[in-house]
Amino acid sequence: MENSKMTSRLAAILPPGMKAFWETSVDSTNLAVVRLAQQTDAEIVLAAADEQTQGRGRRGRSWSSPMGESLYMSLLLKHPAVEPENASMLTLVMGLSAVQALRDLTGHSARIKWPNDAVMGDKKICGILTEMRAAENGIRHVVIGVGLNLNARAFPQELMDRATSLYLETGKEYDRAEAAAALCRRFLENYNTFLKTQDMSGLLEEYNGALINLGRRVKVLDPGGEYTGTAGGITPRGELRVTRQDGGMELIYAGEVSVRGLYGYV
Ligand code: BTN
Repeated sequence: MENSKMTSRLAAILPPGMKAFWETSVDSTNLAVVRLAQQTDAEIVLAAADEQTQGRGRRGRSWSSPMGESLYMSLLLKHPAVEPENASMLTLVMGLSAVQALRDLTGHSARIKWPNDAVMGDKKICGILTEMRAAENGIRHVVIGVGLNLNARAFPQELMDRATSLYLETGKEYDRAEAAAALCRRFLENYNTFLKTQDMSGLLEEYNGALINLGRRVKVLDPGGEYTGTAGGITPRGELRVTRQDGGMELIYAGEVSVRGLYGYV
C-alpha cells in the first residue's frame, strides 16, 4: 500500500525527471521498484518503503529493515544508455553519491569502503545492492538499492563492531525523505558525469579522495586464495589496485572478491 504522505513529500523535493513511490511495506524495494516502474513512463523511478519484509543484502545475505527506522530505497534506470559490460560501475557511482549525501546531510566525514559501502567512524552505515536485467539489444533496466542506517539506536551484538547509524554517529534523528532526496540529487549529478565516458574517469579523483582503503593494508578474500597487500586507488574501470607484499600489483574486480581490513571491517 502506498504511503501517500511520504510520496508527495518526496515528490516535492526530488530532482526533476524522477518518479517516486513511497510504500508502507514491501518485500524488497529492489523488487517493488520493478513492479512500480510499469506504472510510469519516467526513465528514472524511485521506490522507497517504511519497512521491508525481505530486505536483501549482497552475497545472499538479508538486510534488516524495521518499520520507519532507516532509509530503504531503490532507483530503477530504464534502458540506460550504458553498455552491459559497464553497468557494474554504477554501484560505485552510487557508493560515491551516498558518501557525498551523508556529508551534505550531516557535515560529518563519510568515506567509501571499496567498492560501494559508505563508512562513518570506521563502521558501515550504508549498503548497496545493484541488479541488472538484460534485454536482447542491451540493458532493460538497472536497479540500485540503497539501505542507509539513519535512526537505529543499536545493532545486534554480532554487528556492533562494524555497523553504525547516523543517529549513533551524530546524536540526531534524520528525515527519511530528506535523506532520499539528498542521495538522488548526488546520484543524478554523478550519473551524468559517468554517462559521458561510461567509466569512472570523471569521478576518479573524488572517489579516490573518499576511499577509506587507500594506503591501508587489506586482506583480499579471493576465491583462488586469500592474500594481503596495500590498497591503492581505483582504476577508471573501478578495479581496486592492490600491491602485494612481494611487490606484485593486482587489479581487483568487485563481485569476484571481498576486501577487508587486516584487523576488522576496514
Ligand atoms: C549490502 O549487503 O551491503 C547491500 C544492502 C542493500 C540493502 C538495500 S535496502 C533497499 C534495497 N532493497 C533490498 O532488498 N536491498 C537494498
